[in-house]
Amino acid sequence: MSKLRLGVNIDHVATVRNARGGDTPDPVRAAKLAEDAGADGITAHLREDRRHIGDADIDALMEALTVPLNFEMAATDEMQKIALRHKPHAVCIVPEKREERTTEGGLEVAREENQLAHFIAPLRDAGCRVSIFIAADQRQIEAAHRIGAQVIELHTGAYCDAHAEGDFKTRDIELEKMRDMAALAHSLGLEVHAGHGLTYDTVKPVAAFPEVMELNIGHFLIGESIFRGLQPAMAEMRRLMDEAREA
Ligand code: PXP
Repeated sequence: MSKLRLGVNIDHVATVRNARGGDTPDPVRAAKLAEDAGADGITAHLREDRRHIGDADIDALMEALTVPLNFEMAATDEMQKIALRHKPHAVCIVPEKREERTTEGGLEVAREENQLAHFIAPLRDAGCRVSIFIAADQRQIEAAHRIGAQVIELHTGAYCDAHAEGDFKTRDIELEKMRDMAALAHSLGLEVHAGHGLTYDTVKPVAAFPEVMELNIGHFLIGESIFRGLQPAMAEMRRLMDEAREA
């Protein structure tokens, strides 16, 4: 099985920085550390309200990184302009609500098919790999394929939440859905990624799906790095991913 890529989401380094409004901790420094520790990519979400990552962080990441940047963005004109200016390796289109604490669900692709097809075309033309963050739902996956996305990222949040709540029946149902939908997406020629809420306890079953090529992990890794440092925190995640892949 091909090696699974680990994308490290550094948004919450910026969350801590912004709690005080100064320059530290610097998310770009975290990204460079993650890169040195073997991250295959860095993910950053520039939200409309700039609650964590800011425009200057994206400028600095584009300048500093040698691994690919996965630029998470809502499907807005403002974000499209920023993405077209920077032309990051990948753009991941996510739903965004001002009042949410984190990206709660997947993108509604099926209902917005025409607008989204129109929206992503210039991003693809600019050379960005277009990824769509969606729930493990056949309608959404087929729509993502029709609009010309190259990648889908499966939202692992429902699976991780069920695990955290001890609702193992729901967790296993969510896992099965993701397994089936990863296979469907792959059969359509889409590259499959996954992420949101993954921890040491939940990563292995998802890492074991042969169609999944990349996991994007942030909040847990950044939290864990308070206790063990970013590089050891990542090394443990990598060990679990590799173990799942080999099994
Ligand atoms: N993938 C996508 C598309 C996301 O929106 C997020 C959260 O910003 C993540 C992965 C990472 O999720 P977490 O921070 O919970 O690991």
